[in-house]
Amino acid sequence: MPTFAAPARIAVLVSGGGTNLQALIDAIAADPGFGGEVVVVGADRDDAAGLERARAAGIATVVQRPGDHIDRANFEQALLADLEPVGVDLVVLAGFMRILTGSFLSRWPDRVVNTHPSLLPAFRGADAVRQALEHGVKLTGCTVHLVDEEVDHGPIIAQEAVEVRDDDTEASLHDRIRAVEHRLLPACVAAMCQGRLQLDGRHVRLTAPRRAVPTSPDPAEDRP
Ligand code: GAR
Repeated sequence: MPTFAAPARIAVLVSGGGTNLQALIDAIAADPGFGGEVVVVGADRDDAAGLERARAAGIATVVQRPGDHIDRANFEQALLADLEPVGVDLVVLAGFMRILTGSFLSRWPDRVVNTHPSLLPAFRGADAVRQALEHGVKLTGCTVHLVDEEVDHGPIIAQEAVEVRDDDTEASLHDRIRAVEHRLLPACVAAMCQGRLQLDGRHVRLTAPRRAVPTSPDPAEDRP
């Protein structure tokens, strides 16, 4: 996996509420060793609440609406043209409900990451939480993965299970999945920023975070 000149410059793409974006912004603010900063937030709709979160954090925003373009290729080129001048090392899809093709992804090989609200490869697509409920599974969860040209398919970085309760609605189950994503996505992005991801075909290995080396106590301090 590539390493970045610290801190890595992160673009986050959103379509909705942006709670995962917020979790990432908060995690970066809380950890001086995170190794990355969100430099731009992009959306495919003007009313994505994630844009407000970005503005509140002083982060630049860009919007490209698919309906303003003749086709997907044109939409992607416009989004690329917005991101290129900012200088972006990696792209995080945090509830971005558009499929990105090779012409966009090839700009950041193995550096586009997505969070998806199911245990992939189960329940790909836009309504993963509803699919899981309708199927009657007892466990679902979330998956953070690298993005390739197939939908919800790329190498899996991390997954965590969430129990389905008998009285769950789509909203209640999605809330508990989101709570896990808010921890898992920033942890995976930090690992990418810190060059701790090793990719071998579909297999991703995470190496442990570097620990701060404790400075040896000054023996003079113990003396009365
Ligand atoms: C998240 O649960 C994310 O996994 C999902 O959208 C939600 C966005 O929430 N993404 C997908 O379903 C992509 N297929 P947020 O806007 O509050 O971060």
